[in-house]
Amino acid sequence: MLAGWLADGLAPSVVLDRHRDDIPAPHRVVRDAADLPRDFVPSLIVLAAKPQKAAEVLPALAPFARQAPILSVMAGKTVGGLTAALADAGCPDAVVIRAMPNTPSAIGQGMTVCYAPPGASDAQRALCERILSAIGDTAWVTREEQMDAVTAISGSGPAYVFLLAELMEQTGTALGLPPELARRIARRTVSG
Ligand SMILES: NC(=O)c1ccc[n+]([C@@H]2O[C@H](COP(=O)([O-])OP(=O)(O)OC[C@H]3O[C@@H](n4cnc5c(N)ncnc54)[C@H](OP(=O)(O)O)[C@@H]3O)[C@@H](O)[C@H]2O)c1
Repeated sequence: MLAGWLADGLAPSVVLDRHRDDIPAPHRVVRDAADLPRDFVPSLIVLAAKPQKAAEVLPALAPFARQAPILSVMAGKTVGGLTAALADAGCPDAVVIRAMPNTPSAIGQGMTVCYAPPGASDAQRALCERILSAIGDTAWVTREEQMDAVTAISGSGPAYVFLLAELMEQTGTALGLPPELARRIARRTVSG
């Protein structure tokens, strides 16, 4: 998602990432949540750690969640669960909007489906829509449980396509094509 946003011309942002140091100015990179500038007033917080890291990450974000909605891409983590964890961390009025993106976002061809709870404002929804539409197509579901189907179809979908390409390649080799040619024609066919 960040690759797509950087390519699209992202507004100045703070990126919390302990591995990258290649984020260009005017964006800032911090390695640890404790290093987030205290005077930083975000307009949106994108939460993209693994779901099992939620309990570790949310307390550090709670002070900022008073000022800005959280856009969570964590698979399977519900609005209710994330909101409750933020309340426990001292932010009882946090607004959490869920999104399920997919990897083609990196080339601006993503499909992101979102769910906003009734407490989210139109302006907060519009902000999420604006940033997500910069990396592909967007859609909204009205019931949170529909996010599970979305996770299966578009969130995980690229993996099925890769599997198809692998099977085409293996079949080509089994039919007597040189492996390099089988790989090339399978990949080219799928990308076409
Ligand atoms: N990949 C997909 O296609 C896809 C699609 C839809 C949604 N999602 C969701 O997107 C999220 C990220 O997935 P991913 O595949 O991008 O995972 P990933 O490559 O593991 O990225 C997660 C990043 O969060 C960092 N992180 C974890 N705890 C941290 C902390 N306390 N402070 C700072 N950084 C921390 C990790 O660093 P370390 O490696 O050092 O822990 C890692 O760089 C997940 O919630 C997933 O459910 C993924």
